[in-house]
Amino acid sequence: MTILIKNGNVVSPQGTIAADVLIDGERIVAIMAPGETRLGSNLESEAERVIDASGKYVIPGGIDPHTHMELPFGGTFASDTFETGTRAAAWGGTTTIIDFAVQVQGARVQDGLAAWHAKAAGNCHIDYGFHQIVGGVDDDSLKAMDELVNEGVTSFKLFMAYPGVFYSDDGQILKAMQTASANGSMIMMHAENGMAIDVLVAQALAEGKTDPRYHSLTRPWETEAEATNRAIMLARLTGAPLYIVHMSAKQAVAVLQGAKDEGWNVFGETCPQYLYLSLEDHLSQPGFEGAKWVCSTPLRAKAEHHQDELWRYLRTNDLSIVSTDHCPFCFKEQKELGVGNFSKIPNGIGSVEHRMDLIYQGVVDGRITLERWVELCSTTPARMFGLYPQKGVIAPGSDADIVIYDPSGRTEIGLNKTHHMNMDHSAWKNFDIDGHVDTVISRGTVVVDDNEYLGTKGHGRYLRRGLSQYLI
Ligand code: URP
Ligand code: ZN
Ligand code: ZN
Repeated sequence: MTILIKNGNVVSPQGTIAADVLIDGERIVAIMAPGETRLGSNLESEAERVIDASGKYVIPGGIDPHTHMELPFGGTFASDTFETGTRAAAWGGTTTIIDFAVQVQGARVQDGLAAWHAKAAGNCHIDYGFHQIVGGVDDDSLKAMDELVNEGVTSFKLFMAYPGVFYSDDGQILKAMQTASANGSMIMMHAENGMAIDVLVAQALAEGKTDPRYHSLTRPWETEAEATNRAIMLARLTGAPLYIVHMSAKQAVAVLQGAKDEGWNVFGETCPQYLYLSLEDHLSQPGFEGAKWVCSTPLRAKAEHHQDELWRYLRTNDLSIVSTDHCPFCFKEQKELGVGNFSKIPNGIGSVEHRMDLIYQGVVDGRITLERWVELCSTTPARMFGLYPQKGVIAPGSDADIVIYDPSGRTEIGLNKTHHMNMDHSAWKNFDIDGHVDTVISRGTVVVDDNEYLGTKGHGRYLRRGLSQYLI
């Protein structure tokens, strides 16, 4: 199918230009000045479909490099499958996800990856890749890291939190970093001091502090900043590139900033929840309501002024990416596992559908530029995780993953009529966005068209990723 998107404003990190975009099959074939013809042909009459994008932005499809479909956690599983989660992502203008395959202690890394392939294959509405969680660093899993790089899994997540579950000690982290340093892959780190947190949690519970808000109060910013510093020091020691996930504490990002300024290969992401939601307004809601906002790292106190600082770090590129850490759990029977004990509440918030809109609101609010929006949500994730220029850019030869975004539209998110994630609630209830995803094209196929869903399960393909473009 040939599609001509005409009269739109094409946005990239370099700037915004008025241009027409021609798609042939799965690829973009030309970007032209508005109305220009190619080789003398009249494209408008030849294209099988013409989309008028007058007054709208034409952007590369969103890339969410941090999702957890069907993640086993706390005795249950994240409630979105690859089918429901990728469909919801498409609705919201995200055309690629990178999910986390899981290896737990005692299991083979390769088996964990195979299990994730089995969950995703034939079920995805958009393209997908995998990072690998290494929950049990030993000689076999270190060898497996080399193997996986050749299969397009070029990043590995380690946990300094969750002792007894995904946790790695410093020696294990050091060894995994040495392996990454040698094979060119990226270490992704959940940077929280899990041992200290476990003591604080036990003490809180012993004092009868069982409400959801204690989830945040037992994971104070110091536990994130300390672990961030430790991870950076171990990365420096080994030469491994490091990407810190879901950063929420301004003090942790300040540590990252210092290391970046010294020229170290360290990067960080944050997520919409840390930019908009808080301990006071959400996690502290009466009764057990706050459980909806239990995630790790935790929502932080508004009084500590993290949010303005995180937006600033997004502007200065000390934070490079906004992902969602999409990890949805229903309130009934899943979040409710933690009634009477906040430490048993499954950790995670569902946002895969809303990231593009929520971060666009940052453009409207004057926090970031239009071009930075595209860079944070699409271009840098592609470059960071070995997908560029197949993804993350509107250019001849790139996959035709395109979103037509209407800045004069409006999106009421969190209301049941507009959310498609497999959850019985929304963490984003009553958020209204000054913008709207009008059309979503995934590899040349229109999957969302003016509030109508046209995508199909099985359209999404596995992406073998290359090495990060940010590594020296
Ligand atoms: O709360 C979170 N983040 N749940 C998902 C697991 C993780 O640590 O990313
Ligand atoms: Zn994590
Ligand atoms: Zn995560």
